Amino acid sequence: MIFKFPEELMFMKNGKAVQKHSDESMKGKLCVISGSTSGVGYEAANTLAASGANIVMVVRNENKAEAVKNELERKYSVFVDYFIADFSDLKQVEKAAKAISDKYPRIDVLINSVGIHSTKKIYNKDGIEMVFCVNHLSTFLMTKLLLNTMIKSSPSRIVQVNSEGHRFSGVKANDLNWKRRIYTGLRSYGSSKTAQLLTVWQLAEDLKGTGVTINAMHPGGVRTNIGNNNGILYRWFLHHVTWHFLKDPKISGEAIYYLASANELNKVSGKFFNLTIEEKPAKHALDPEKQKTIYDLSMIMTGLVKEDV
Ligand SMILES: NC(=O)c1ccc[n+]([C@@H]2O[C@H](COP(=O)([O-])OP(=O)(O)OC[C@H]3O[C@@H](n4cnc5c(N)ncnc54)[C@H](OP(=O)(O)O)[C@@H]3O)[C@@H](O)[C@H]2O)c1
Repeated sequence: MIFKFPEELMFMKNGKAVQKHSDESMKGKLCVISGSTSGVGYEAANTLAASGANIVMVVRNENKAEAVKNELERKYSVFVDYFIADFSDLKQVEKAAKAISDKYPRIDVLINSVGIHSTKKIYNKDGIEMVFCVNHLSTFLMTKLLLNTMIKSSPSRIVQVNSEGHRFSGVKANDLNWKRRIYTGLRSYGSSKTAQLLTVWQLAEDLKGTGVTINAMHPGGVRTNIGNNNGILYRWFLHHVTWHFLKDPKISGEAIYYLASANELNKVSGKFFNLTIEEKPAKHALDPEKQKTIYDLSMIMTGLVKEDV
């Protein structure tokens, strides 16, 4: 009898599988990348710029932005611009998205790589739990506000940098702010990533026929700065133990390049990829009722609609 690996556990294999590559040129394309000062987003900016894409970064730290801009322009002779927004503040995200669409009438690719993992429950100035705000609500808002430009620029692509960590936890629509349950870093991270996936499916539905695709991806378990905001013990464990099991984030940049450019993905939308391999997400991220609920709540929480639905 041949043993068939259960579909739900394929994520254990897919990350180790031979990955796909794209030789499509991105010369002259405009790619907007949030979280491009570090890790996965930085590597994505590098692979795309190396192929001739112009890069618009959306980042919170001006000094880091200047350094990455200078580096990319020097290495690849492309045009690089940046907009400043702290993704824990939805007003700043809205302002940056509006400024981007005012300045750039054409966007070929949007990559949201901004993300955090926090072992402590923290609220932003508007009382929204920080991980949910940064990982999900702000990336949802950025995406929604750039959609008109992306539709006008179609064919165009959106890649949400998600995580296998969505498997850690589903999302509770009646407790998005962790007031009723015990908060842990892994649970809030999983919940934020599940929320993002649910909205990716909904956005893919809404975008049918527009020429804009949206997919989510896990960038691999890679050595980046994620988690460095946590306490000293966490950081010690991360750098002395966890890092030994993690890979070079260049694999994330290469996978995002594939998802942003490969011809065979021209019409592929509403999918989850483990690096470059399409994979079935956790069951809790595929609930159609929850998809609608979380999408509607995200619209309200980001201020995109005013009244309760
Ligand atoms: N590393 C992994 O193994 C792994 C695995 C699965 C999924 N991911 C996902 O990959 C994405 C990128 O993470 P990473 O591993 O590359 O981590 P990283 O090196 O810490 O990069 C995160 C990026 O997000 C930015 N950022 C964080 N909080 C922000 C805020 N409030 N406002 C604006 N920008 C903010 C950071 O800016 P600064 O440079 O200013 O800090 C940085 O550019 C995340 O969505 C993460 O969930 C990573």
